[in-house]
Amino acid sequence: MQDVTRLNINDLRQAVGTHIVGVGTRLVYVPEVESTNTLAMKLARERPEEGLVVLTDSQTAGKGRQGRRWVDTPGCNIISSTLLRPLFPPHLLVMIASLAVVEAIERVCGVQVALKWPNDVLVAERKVCGILIETSHDQDGCLVAVLGIGINANGQLQGRVEQKGMEVELATVATTLEIVCGHPVSREEILIHLLAALEKEYFALQQEAIEPPVVTSWARPVARLLRERWQSHLTTLGRTIKVHQGDSVVEGVAEAVNDNGELLLRRDSGELVCITWGVVEHFPG
Ligand code: BTN
Repeated sequence: MQDVTRLNINDLRQAVGTHIVGVGTRLVYVPEVESTNTLAMKLARERPEEGLVVLTDSQTAGKGRQGRRWVDTPGCNIISSTLLRPLFPPHLLVMIASLAVVEAIERVCGVQVALKWPNDVLVAERKVCGILIETSHDQDGCLVAVLGIGINANGQLQGRVEQKGMEVELATVATTLEIVCGHPVSREEILIHLLAALEKEYFALQQEAIEPPVVTSWARPVARLLRERWQSHLTTLGRTIKVHQGDSVVEGVAEAVNDNGELLLRRDSGELVCITWGVVEHFPG
């Protein structure tokens, strides 16, 4: 019987329907690794091609946003890093990565998926996926980006986690696709849709960057439509939220996002502040 805690990489290789992303030698699988993002960035220095995908069943030092750790249950999660060489502004990477995850989960699980600014993926208000994008420049000064995606696919969630200085049950803030679907899900099937969606969004933006239809970037229709789709999934908008930035907290109503994907927060004082980073806390309701 197939051991489902090990990715069936042969099946995956045959089933990926992409043109470059994760195709042939561009699909790298290691049963265990420190961090797929770190490995992908290392490989980027040795191999020039874009579309390299690093997959694993478990990370020993998975990286989260804001310098936090990303812990997985071995064999239960989708842990992937995709190497891209974008010619478009890097803030659009957040949008293509999170929309690709939305598409893959919605297609395979048939559940509604929402986004918490900037790129946490939620089902039923609980986090099901985290995204960490790391960028660098190659010898020619060209942008190299690694899109690290961690999806809680299978298993139940037990234990407690620290959240803003307090211990809470993990299951109150996070979930898995198995929990929301009521049955285990195929990690391979989700990856097939994820890679296809990533490639589709990436190619469209690259094409627009190579042959811009007009001179001003804001008028680019592919980027504008992408931003609109991303924004339509953002459940953060219209809510009273807290943004944790290291030791400080900013509170207010999330009014909008600007063209760069930054959050515009209306404070009680009436001041509108532009939030470029931080961990957002949604209040219930
Ligand atoms: C977050 O803090 O929400 C982001 C978590 C990102 C985790 C993924 S798993 C694959 C990739 N490799 C890493 O070390 N981190 C990212």
